[in-house]
Amino acid sequence: MSPQPQKAVGSPLSRVDGRLKVTGQADYAVDHDVPGAVHAVVVDSSIALGRITGIDTSAAESHPGVLKVITHRNAPRLVYRDNPVSNNPRGRRLRVFQDDQILFFGQPVAVVVATTIETAQHGASLVDVSYEARQPTTDLAGRPGDPLLNYARGDTEAALASAAVRLDREFHLARNHHNPMEPHGTIASWDGDKLTLWDKTQYVIGVQNEAAAVFGIPVENVRVISPFVGGAFGSALRTWPHVAIAALAAREMGCPVKLALSRRQMYFTVGYRPRYQYRLRLGADRQGRLTAMAHEPTYETSNHETFWEATLFLGQMLYNVPNVSQTLRTVSLDVNTPLWMRGPGFSSTSFCIEVAMDELAHELGIDPVELRLRNEPTKDLSTGLPFSTRRLRECFQTGAQEFGWGRRNPKPRSTRDGDWLVGTGVATGCYDTRRARAEAHARLDAGGTAVVQSAASDAGPGTYTSMTQVAADALGLAVREVEFRLGDTTMPPAPPQGASQLMASVGSAVQDTCDKLRLQAIRLAVGDQRSPLHGVRPDDVVVIAGRLQVKDKPARGETYRQLLARNNLTHLEANGGYTPPAETPYSMYGYSAVFAEVGVDARLGLVRVRRMLSVYDAGRIISPKLADSQALGGMIGGIGMALLEHTVTDHRDGRIVNANLADYLVPVNADIPELRAIYLDGDDRKADPIGVKGLGELVKVGVAPAIANAVFHATGRRVHELPITAEALL
Ligand code: MOS
Repeated sequence: MSPQPQKAVGSPLSRVDGRLKVTGQADYAVDHDVPGAVHAVVVDSSIALGRITGIDTSAAESHPGVLKVITHRNAPRLVYRDNPVSNNPRGRRLRVFQDDQILFFGQPVAVVVATTIETAQHGASLVDVSYEARQPTTDLAGRPGDPLLNYARGDTEAALASAAVRLDREFHLARNHHNPMEPHGTIASWDGDKLTLWDKTQYVIGVQNEAAAVFGIPVENVRVISPFVGGAFGSALRTWPHVAIAALAAREMGCPVKLALSRRQMYFTVGYRPRYQYRLRLGADRQGRLTAMAHEPTYETSNHETFWEATLFLGQMLYNVPNVSQTLRTVSLDVNTPLWMRGPGFSSTSFCIEVAMDELAHELGIDPVELRLRNEPTKDLSTGLPFSTRRLRECFQTGAQEFGWGRRNPKPRSTRDGDWLVGTGVATGCYDTRRARAEAHARLDAGGTAVVQSAASDAGPGTYTSMTQVAADALGLAVREVEFRLGDTTMPPAPPQGASQLMASVGSAVQDTCDKLRLQAIRLAVGDQRSPLHGVRPDDVVVIAGRLQVKDKPARGETYRQLLARNNLTHLEANGGYTPPAETPYSMYGYSAVFAEVGVDARLGLVRVRRMLSVYDAGRIISPKLADSQALGGMIGGIGMALLEHTVTDHRDGRIVNANLADYLVPVNADIPELRAIYLDGDDRKADPIGVKGLGELVKVGVAPAIANAVFHATGRRVHELPITAEALL
């Protein structure tokens, strides 16, 4: 097949669904107008551990407009089949309203169904639950934890003992909540034993499988629809209990039920980035070459499930370290289960490694950029595999140039701007490139427009747009002539929009599908005696602006419309897909160099980020404008992680005390300075057929340590705790 010219891919398009979104026409989960729907509000527990001793629902039930109150006392027994498809962690997931046990604060204990949302909310406030409470354990600190994973190469202890320079540090990272703009919500509607769910999710097939497992019905009996998602950052990667509650209520009511979580409830039942305690020991020679790293990360999980995230990769592959040991532990607590949050595992680990690298650089008097370049590996030491592409060195060189790193006085506390101590810092970002099986369907209509679909999600990266770009070029059509559809389990299957795997996976599936469709049209033309292309080799035909033509003789050709009309065809269609190879002989990661400048108020300890620049080695950039949206968003998220975000638990009773957007701090416009993203011009065909390495997670990794290192440079104060507060700097 002759390669198609790339016109849409690489051009800075605005979101194709942007107008729908800004004019309020994009229907998010509970926006859907489902006729006859009633409203449900969840009542959640006010203890973290114990059992329900009584529930008085009489006041709620007698309130006008309240239709039903469902608790563990009147709820039907649910099947809760095991389910390997839904991103459920190992353990025994919460089974809604199946017993009187309370496992964490804010656990759903009842649902009130009413004619209006307001009535349901008031009804929920009238449900009187009594408990027998036990003292919960919700504090990670001081608990040894249970070993989850180990890794070792070389003899780390011996290498540490003989190292010329050693560091031994303990890091503390706060719990963070995802806080997407759109709270989680679901509409459930039954037709006999067939269930339709309109849900906020990053994985419609995951929700489909989980709902089928909970109710013990065939997977094909569940349809999940989710065309728009108002942000998620990972919180919608598994199916949380409110989905089962909505479906259960709809079944009990015999009519559709709408259930939206409140902002407060978003802190209790839809996961979070776990709190970490991380001991890291480094050994190096006087030239700054690392000889050993010993990692002992510990994070929190729930007593009922063991959460896993990718905490160990970076320590094994980021730098050229011959001796590495890792012991990952989890501490099981009376809390809800964590869930992946942007750059999961990597963001937390990179803070510890990259701050420690900065300390090492300072101690040895080596420039922090130079220190990292001295520890560049030539292959992935964890697997022995060569890198598909690794251009971290270029990221640092370009970044140092553009940021003006060379003008830096390495001495901490050496630069002042009025009341502000000014400092700069740098860190490496890295996230693994993942791909998964994905399928797509494409249809070319007689009018010369195409519809392409796959059961993907778009939680904000701009999947509608990027897939449209890939499809448009593969079909030789303009972007406006192609419509990409997603978010429905009736479409060909796609993996979760998580772990930055969607562009590589679904993008490659869309490419394959549209290549097949284009080839079909080309074959039809070259075999058609009435076509000007009759007899031409298919390999010599390209499609440009909807016209099939000989590559080197563009005058010879015809349009899709002419071809289909003459052959009396209403459309052509094709199915395609992408299956990643079972074994890839490469180590695949995206990389970045993150540069930050901060000002710290010398008297108040306030930190302001003054500017930031990240340079990415992320493979091919399909959609530069959307890439900027990701990159700037990742930097903003990183500013939050570094300086503001902190879920605070009152360990006396296990309640989260700042369960609202006034007390859980996230960056606002006033916190955000000039941010700049640069992408190395790349194309990693070893990673996947469209050459991308994933961007959505990478952009968050390395931001918090770059800021922490800049804070050190500004103040001379090293903080090993996130978020970095004014108190820590006074
Ligand atoms: Mo990302 S945490 O995999 O949505």
